[in-house]
Amino acid sequence: MRVLLTGGAGYIGSHTALALLESGNEVVALDDLSNSSRESLHRVEELTGKTVDFVEADLTDAAATRQSLEGVEFDAVIHFAGLKAVGESVAQPTRYYRTNIDSTLTLLDLMRERGVTRLVFSSSATVYGDPLTDRIAETHQVGVGLTNPYGWSKAMIEQIIADAAHAWPELAAVNLRYFNPVGAHPSGRIGEDPDGIPNNLMPFVAQVAVGRRERLSVFGDDYPTPDGTGVRDYIHVMDLAEGHVVALEHAKPGVRSVNLGSGEGSSVLEVVRAFERASGREVPFSIEPRRAGDVASVIADPSLALSEWGWRTTRSLDDACRDAWAWQQSNPQGYANA
Ligand code: NAD
Ligand code: WQD
Repeated sequence: MRVLLTGGAGYIGSHTALALLESGNEVVALDDLSNSSRESLHRVEELTGKTVDFVEADLTDAAATRQSLEGVEFDAVIHFAGLKAVGESVAQPTRYYRTNIDSTLTLLDLMRERGVTRLVFSSSATVYGDPLTDRIAETHQVGVGLTNPYGWSKAMIEQIIADAAHAWPELAAVNLRYFNPVGAHPSGRIGEDPDGIPNNLMPFVAQVAVGRRERLSVFGDDYPTPDGTGVRDYIHVMDLAEGHVVALEHAKPGVRSVNLGSGEGSSVLEVVRAFERASGREVPFSIEPRRAGDVASVIADPSLALSEWGWRTTRSLDDACRDAWAWQQSNPQGYANA
């Protein structure tokens, strides 16, 4: 397949581009580079020895996107493009809704015009809100009591895709609900390159280990979890990337929503210790108040992806820490000095 990756220069997009190329597919990456660097895809080309076609376009500008894609062929789409910082979405709700929703509307129109029916969408476990069960299955309620515009935008986009599929029965869409993506390609050549202070745990820990930040703030140690710190289901980004390849291959008319997670929970302190083991460095931390909007524990029931597609994670949290450390050590400023 020749696959259009919107947001293809980003963290998950670049790793998925690599997985697609390695499984014999072709890649067209479309990105406005608002939160990424062109260098990530140069490195994907270097790692695979294959070419990535690149289109620079802002998906919220429908006319410009249409023009940029003139003459560019593709027969499936993976839609990563969007804004993803939870806190920023609370401060800038209209920007988040406009970017995330407008981009998707443009893309769906474009797909229909061209008769491209296969779509994989980057959704998130955030659509489940505060979980009602220890492990979250796809049948869990969605879009109830969400605490931020980012999460709402994902739930709304899932609804938009469902409505599009209703009106256009050939559409074969999969919403992949990611749990917590972490790690990097084992080469350390591509990885997560957050702009400014990282919001997410693992890139923050990595920057403390490499000496770029002084200490980690652990947000709360009074949750009802074994050590009191928040528990999450961390999934290695290469497992996640391979999940996209499998989802594309299995997409059939209609809409499916499928969790991509490991089924294992790890606490903040367990992540800190795993990173210390992987890096051989100490990660100083202090216990701080809970972060607004956080919940105690979020763990996937990943059994649907296994029974339907034969997909499961094969990499551990230790693997993710080792690979994130390889990336962090050899690129302490991310792609900035590339
Ligand atoms: P990222 O920011 O690295 O990638 C998103 C990419 O989209 C960036 O390259 C950015 O430049 C591009 N982009 C943003 N607005 C655009 C626009 N208007 N037009 C064209 N390109 C645009 O983020 P990521 O971590 O790779 O996330 C990819 C997707 O997965 C996002 O939709 C995100 O919401 C979703 N997701 C991420 C996580 C996570 O923890 N990383 C978890 C669940 C879901
Ligand atoms: C993990 C744990 C924090 C930073 C977010 C989004 C979610 C998805 C993934 C996009 C929590 C704790 C964190 C720090 C800490 N993204 N923590 N100190 O919040 O589970 O999920 O990213 O879709 O939608 O909400 O991930 O990495 O921010 O936090 O103690 O400096 O680490 O409290 O328990 P989260 P995270």
